[in-house]
Amino acid sequence: MTDRRFVFLGPPGAGKGTQAARAAERLSVPHISTGEILRRAVREGTELGRTAKGYMDRGALVPDDVVAGIVAERLSEPDCRDGFILDGFPRTTPQAEALDGRTNGASLLVLYFDLDDEEAVERLTGRRTCASCGANFHLKYMPPKVEGRCDRCGGELVQRSDDREETVRERLRVYHEQTRELVERYRALGRLAEIDANGSPEAVGARIDARMGDD
Ligand code: AP5
Repeated sequence: MTDRRFVFLGPPGAGKGTQAARAAERLSVPHISTGEILRRAVREGTELGRTAKGYMDRGALVPDDVVAGIVAERLSEPDCRDGFILDGFPRTTPQAEALDGRTNGASLLVLYFDLDDEEAVERLTGRRTCASCGANFHLKYMPPKVEGRCDRCGGELVQRSDDREETVRERLRVYHEQTRELVERYRALGRLAEIDANGSPEAVGARIDARMGDD
């Protein structure tokens, strides 16, 4: 069987979540977004959520041991046996090492979404997210059919608290400081596929499909 273990890596706003949702459906593998798991914990007021909130609100990374623990637990679930798409993990070298320990490295394909910072800022400041199901929209590029309402479930569309411009710029700074080095790491290991993340969601999706394979 074709290997189906993927990492979507790239700056905030590059379209990882949009494309991961689409590709996961196409390949019938789970879409594991650490950002979504953490936001759910914040909404539910769990201990994890209380720990994560302060970091997320200021655009910082949640500590490695916390996030690596969440991912280890999630990957041990039966639905991950035949593959998965990790969206937003790993984000630091210690996280990448933790993932190597679980996957033996060799069969992982890392799709690197290449997008410049100003385009990422425009995408994020215009993003609106469904408060009920988490679906993403964009005021200009991917508008909902009915203003302020989710196409999928009819829920209310809200702006993520970390999508204000000042926090977006801090997230980009953190990305360049702590995450960007993973591109070179995976390139050196021969596991990197570069994706031009410019253009329409459909155009980017077609580039991704070509790299991920059909089944
Ligand atoms: P997370 O939720 O992972 O945020 P992120 O990586 O910053 O990514 P985004 O969700 O902002 O962007 P995306 O690339 O998914 O883009 P999207 O598809 O939505 O993390 C949030 C926080 O959680 C972190 O800051 C950190 O605190 C914590 N965290 C998470 N993981 C962690 C980890 N591993 N370690 C430590 N801390 C962690 O698209 C963006 C917008 O653009 C949308 O409006 C969309 O509609 C639009 N769009 C998408 N594609 C296109 C296109 N082709 N053209 C035009 N518009 C487009």
